[in-house]
Amino acid sequence: MKVVSLFSGAGGLDLGFVLAGHKIVWANDLYEDAVKTYRQNLGNHIICQDITKIQTNEIPDCDIVIGGFPCQGFSVANTTRHVSDERNVLYKQLIRVIKDKQPKYFLAENVKGILSIGKGEVFKKIITDFAELGYTVNYKLLNAADYGVPQTRLRVIIVGVRKDLGRSFIFPEPTHSKNETGQLPKWVSVSDALSGIPDPDKPNKLPNHTYSKYKLNFNGYIGHRPLDPNKPAPTVTARGDNKGGVVILPHPNGLRRMTCRELATIQSFPLNYVFFGPSSSVYRQIGNAVPPLLAKIIALQFYLLEDQSK
Ligand SMILES: C[S@@+](CC[C@H](N)C(=O)[O-])C[C@H]1O[C@@H](n2cnc3c(N)ncnc32)[C@H](O)[C@@H]1O
Repeated sequence: MKVVSLFSGAGGLDLGFVLAGHKIVWANDLYEDAVKTYRQNLGNHIICQDITKIQTNEIPDCDIVIGGFPCQGFSVANTTRHVSDERNVLYKQLIRVIKDKQPKYFLAENVKGILSIGKGEVFKKIITDFAELGYTVNYKLLNAADYGVPQTRLRVIIVGVRKDLGRSFIFPEPTHSKNETGQLPKWVSVSDALSGIPDPDKPNKLPNHTYSKYKLNFNGYIGHRPLDPNKPAPTVTARGDNKGGVVILPHPNGLRRMTCRELATIQSFPLNYVFFGPSSSVYRQIGNAVPPLLAKIIALQFYLLEDQSK
């Protein structure tokens, strides 16, 4: 199906849709390094501009609109989050494009914190706004680890189906489980995920396989905890300042920060996905992304919607 992507970043969500066989016809972000990454890996269809400055008639028609709208204002990790945080309003850009383009379906992605902000009032408003466009809206909190990503990343996925189609979206069943329940394989661990990755301090040809010289200090705070190699990693975040921030993931050897490549692997990006910009920017692009593997599994479910018309 033809897909229009907003807030596309380095392309994690979009890569998942491409891997599922969809075609991204137009994408947008204002973050230059991320757009360069996107272009090199996914194609020239991305526009580097503030979405608020783009008219909908500049955007092509499509079957699906997707977008992980900016989440800093919503994140539970952000202690200054507030209902009136102006970044929260960017979801209205998604609303505008869906309203004007009337795609068959849309998908919006966000952090778990969006559910509880303003005692749940903000999320209720968002869902109502989407529904008022004429869509049946469903949402689910998914754990990326349940879908084979080596990371316990919780994200809210909101899916809308245009009401006149009379179809219903089915969220994907987990492919993995914490304790091998229901005969599902166990969550993928950090050591499994990183097993084929060479030592970054020895000669190697992997792109982005460098790490910032961040001094590890295991004091129990987020980003300052040793990592259990036998479990999936905690959430990779992009939080912090533009120098890479203070929320880091240490390598399981406890001696250094993970390289950008290792972090990208924890986010399920393929090894040949090359990121552009200084490492602080690359860490941020990776932390911002939807894991492509999770995105692909969700994107496949849209074919089931099409089947319902037969
Ligand atoms: C959570 S990230 C999306 C990541 C992406 N979905 C992925 O999987 O890689 C949100 C993105 O919104 C972009 N953004 C924020 N404000 C924007 C605006 N006004 N116009 C366009 N993009 C914007 C940011 O640069 C950031 O890349």
